[in-house]
Amino acid sequence: MSGIRVEGLGKRFGTRVAVEGLSFEVAPGEVFGLLGPNGAGKTTTVRMLTGLLTPTWGDATVAGISSRHGGEDLRRKVGLLTEQPGLYDRLTGKENLLFFIKLNELDEDAAWARALGYLERFGLKGREDEPCGSWSKGMRQKLAIIRTLVHDPEVVIFDEPTSGLDPDSARTVRDCIAELASEKRTIVLCSHNLAEVERLCQRVAVVKGRLLALSAVRDLRRAGHALQIKVAGDAARFLPALAALPFSPKALVEGGLLRVLLSDEEQQPEVLRALIDAGARVYHATRIERPLEEVYLELVRA
Ligand SMILES: Nc1ncnc2c1ncn2[C@@H]1O[C@H](COP(=O)(O)OP(=O)(O)OP(=O)(O)O)[C@@H](O)[C@H]1O
Ligand SMILES: [Mg+2]
Repeated sequence: MSGIRVEGLGKRFGTRVAVEGLSFEVAPGEVFGLLGPNGAGKTTTVRMLTGLLTPTWGDATVAGISSRHGGEDLRRKVGLLTEQPGLYDRLTGKENLLFFIKLNELDEDAAWARALGYLERFGLKGREDEPCGSWSKGMRQKLAIIRTLVHDPEVVIFDEPTSGLDPDSARTVRDCIAELASEKRTIVLCSHNLAEVERLCQRVAVVKGRLLALSAVRDLRRAGHALQIKVAGDAARFLPALAALPFSPKALVEGGLLRVLLSDEEQQPEVLRALIDAGARVYHATRIERPLEEVYLELVRA
């Protein structure tokens, strides 16, 4: 199993450059998050990875196959859950799956056995003979996920897999993604749900046309130097003293504690001195990991 390697990948539609200069690697067993605002180029990127779009620049090697020349070989090794998976409303759940299995010339017994396992797991067992047109949005999404997995793909790419799912179903899908990774498959997850990304992904790329950050989630959350400080009494009265520092750090009070964002560790003693000079009794100062959402918003708004 050989994961994903993306080198200088880019796509131009007419005069609009949707994606440029994207390079990253994903190892088997890893869940890699692809984050970015609407229109950032996530879907365009995964469509290039799976051979549905031809890159304008660069290349991607997915499961050892160049996505430029992948065709049938690539489809056999990769599963893609698209943003708007097309299902045939007049066909039943079972017929939809069998249609896909036949279309892709899969081993029917093995693929259907896998499908049955997932139908059970996703709570759709017993409903498979109903037309999909009468199914709820979440049920349809789950069927689309099953269709993505029936051919036992080495690389699985999920474009917003839990959108429209209730919390319990979203959890089932997340557990399934974690399990797929534990089976040493390579997973790419596009998601706007940052809590989900924090739970599932080891590393993420934040994109907005180009790469803004490529990092372990943990390192991203530690980026910048965030201090949490406990002082006696009302913490908010020390905000002016912090604002008056020459480097005017971003500071706020949360849960009665001061949170100060520094650009450099060297600023920490200055912050503590300013607080003490302003009469603060400092109980403790701890470096903290920031919520992914906070770091993400800083990156995409910059
Ligand atoms: N087939 C196409 N023709 C022309 N422009 C396109 C096409 N597909 C995507 N684009 C443009 O490329 C840009 C990136 O779109 P893309 O769908 O990749 O974003 P995204 O990151 O998936 O956004 P979202 O979070 O909303 O799903 C957008 O400006 C979009 O209009
Ligand atoms: Mg998209």
